[in-house]
Amino acid sequence: MEEKFVLNIIDKKQVPEAEPERQYYFMDIAKEYVGQLSKAKGSPLTFHVSTFGCQMNARDSEKLVGILEKVGYVEEDSEKADFVIYNTCTVRENANNKVYGRLGYLNGFQKKNPFMMIGMCGCMMQEPTVVEKIKQSYRFVNLIFGTHNIYKFAELIVTAIENSFGPKLGKKADRMTIDIWKDTDKIVEDLPVERKYSFKSGVNIMFGCNNFCSYCIVPYVRGRERSREPKEIIREIERLVADGVVEVMLLGQNVNSYGKNLDTPMSFAELLQEVEKIEGLERIRFMTSHPKDLSDELIEVMKHSKKICKHLHLPLQSGSSRILKVMNRRYDKEHYLELVEKIRAAVPDIALTTDIIVGFPGETEEDFEETMDVVRKVRYDSAFTFIYSKRTGTPAAAMEEQVPEDVVKERFDCLLKEVQQISAEKAGALMGQILPVLVEEQNGQDERLVTGRLSNNSTVHLPGSTDLIGKIVDVALKECKGFYYLGELV
Ligand code: 5AD
Ligand code: SF4
Repeated sequence: MEEKFVLNIIDKKQVPEAEPERQYYFMDIAKEYVGQLSKAKGSPLTFHVSTFGCQMNARDSEKLVGILEKVGYVEEDSEKADFVIYNTCTVRENANNKVYGRLGYLNGFQKKNPFMMIGMCGCMMQEPTVVEKIKQSYRFVNLIFGTHNIYKFAELIVTAIENSFGPKLGKKADRMTIDIWKDTDKIVEDLPVERKYSFKSGVNIMFGCNNFCSYCIVPYVRGRERSREPKEIIREIERLVADGVVEVMLLGQNVNSYGKNLDTPMSFAELLQEVEKIEGLERIRFMTSHPKDLSDELIEVMKHSKKICKHLHLPLQSGSSRILKVMNRRYDKEHYLELVEKIRAAVPDIALTTDIIVGFPGETEEDFEETMDVVRKVRYDSAFTFIYSKRTGTPAAAMEEQVPEDVVKERFDCLLKEVQQISAEKAGALMGQILPVLVEEQNGQDERLVTGRLSNNSTVHLPGSTDLIGKIVDVALKECKGFYYLGELV
């Protein structure tokens, strides 16, 4: 078998320069390599992608899976697969620690499987100290790449296989493949994507972030803001709809600043109106909105739209205008509360959710009380609460007056209790109504039930068969159990 493993079959003269053609060329090469390795192994090579973090990463993982399947890998539901990829997050320090912890396990699997490769990508890999640490302490990792070059994944697979298995089958663990770019203005369209759900999909409308909130590492690891051309976005959604998708989630770190850097600038509200026109598309969601850029024009579009879901995620971060200023959020408490009022006046039954950070450097008891005040005034349907995490390289990391751990913990518990109390009080507000539900999956606990979501993102369980999955059906909301409804088809 070993003699038959032929690497380095790339004919440099044949490699196209333009994208995505170049990647399709490498997909063919990768397919050949994966085929040879599968033959040697006696069964198809398998892969497993573990995703950490946000919706952006989830969408990136679908792109990785699309390419892996295209080159002949078969998905497996275990980290014992022949190619395990960690798509990492680095927003908070504990996310990083989790990854290091799990790498040890992977090494154990790899020692028993001569065909196994380990790949690491995502935001954490954009931090030079992380790559250095992996190079020093986790030499068994085969491939490291970042957030800016995932479109090159096919090419990277080819290099990683050559470095890991060649020229004869038998791993050379010391040849790590590393490709990290600092930033890019490149957006490559038309690469394969494998969706997790057949009926709903994330759609990137922009990449990167220009806001530099002082606690946040994202602008350093995701690079500068760049928007996709509207015609590419529309074309992608039209194709998705033709393929059975009824709901899209438009994705960007700050969707409200969409389109500013296009040759022909276009606002997010204008883009939404174009997306609304796509026939067959039933629901539009978007994530994430920055309060400083949420325009009246957008509120107006949401008010009149038949497809935009009644849910807005509007990160508050802090209720103290003083802290918001140091956070570089560029809005204050009053502006935020006014926005909420305007949105609720335009779309009365909209669900509002948020992100809040506790323990930002210098946060006093009074500042924290301001946050609690906003929470009580807005009464969020739900809120993600975070303990401030010091991220090296961000301005906040260098700030004095880091809040003592026990104080932060106390505030955090207090906030969480309030947030949960309000969520519980608000749950069930739609009881008795008949509302459309997009059925998403069979219920995990009871197979006679299926589970779906209302426009406002609340979960509904109802008796029904799996035939309903992917359909939007009218459901009478009969009972409210904690944070979900029980309903019946009408
Ligand atoms: N510490 C804690 N939370 C953070 N977030 C971003 N950076 C940090 C940090 N350094 C939170 C913000 C953001 C969410 C995605 O993560 O609330 O909205
Ligand atoms: Fe981070 Fe602020 Fe950009 Fe959100 S808007 S990704 S919190 S810098």
